[in-house]
Amino acid sequence: MASEKPAPLLQIEDLHVSVGDREILRGVDLTIGEGETHVLLGPNGGGKSTLLNTIVGMPGYRITQGRVVFKGVDLAGLEIDERARLGIGIAFQRPPAVRGVKLRQMIDVAANGTLDDEAMAALDEDLSLGHMLERDVNMGFSGGEAKRSEMAQLLAQMPDLALFDEPESGVDLDNIAVVGGAMNALLKGEERIAERTRAGLIITHTGHILEYVNADVAHVLYSGRLACKGNPLDLIEEISSHGYEACVGCKLCQSL
Ligand SMILES: Nc1ncnc2c1ncn2[C@@H]1O[C@H](COP(=O)(O)OP(=O)(O)OP(=O)(O)O)[C@@H](O)[C@H]1O
Ligand SMILES: [Mg+2]
Repeated sequence: MASEKPAPLLQIEDLHVSVGDREILRGVDLTIGEGETHVLLGPNGGGKSTLLNTIVGMPGYRITQGRVVFKGVDLAGLEIDERARLGIGIAFQRPPAVRGVKLRQMIDVAANGTLDDEAMAALDEDLSLGHMLERDVNMGFSGGEAKRSEMAQLLAQMPDLALFDEPESGVDLDNIAVVGGAMNALLKGEERIAERTRAGLIITHTGHILEYVNADVAHVLYSGRLACKGNPLDLIEEISSHGYEACVGCKLCQSL
């Protein structure tokens, strides 16, 4: 007897989001199942970060229509910390500085106090945190340091859905390998989807990070909607040769 398909981890339906009086997202539909890693592509200013910020519940991103459902819970009305406790984590495109809070304390909070000295030392070693641990979060961190700090917080939190907003931007090749390795470890990219326990959504322009992270499917956000869906590396190649507009509705797009 066929077993019933489990409800998707994340289900976004007809999502319209406004920032101020401008509508940025105009009907986004996206489903991410447990264990799946998705990629989000799209031109600058198209609303990719807006989508991630809306999922985590950043203030200022107003849902005017549609809904975001995570683990069967409609996220409308839930604060950022409640969403984090439900299992949503994010590595921001431009992580904010937090004066007066050391990275070590932030990692502790992200782990909900479950990180022992050995686990903290392992994080320190894997992500070369060093002196950053005793510094205020993101205060004067270089591009690479800020991304490693974001990864450390995510690895401490171990969210069921990890959102990565341009994890390779402003990061040199050595650091991309470190960040990408940490992402793949979190998402268990080497294992089959059925064996993975976490899901991911990764925004990238260049696709470099996908040399280190296995992704299953990519979506193109164009004119406020997801306009093409397909193999991540194929779509990135198509876009780099012909641009975003040509990608929309191209022969590589699977049915949405
Ligand atoms: N907090 C905000 N206040 C004002 N405008 C915003 C805010 N967040 C996003 N926007 C606007 O919404 C639009 C979409 O921005 P968003 O950052 O989501 O794009 P993006 O696809 O992530 O672009 P990029 O590839 O450059 O990072 C832009 O015009 C941006 O200026
Ligand atoms: Mg962005």
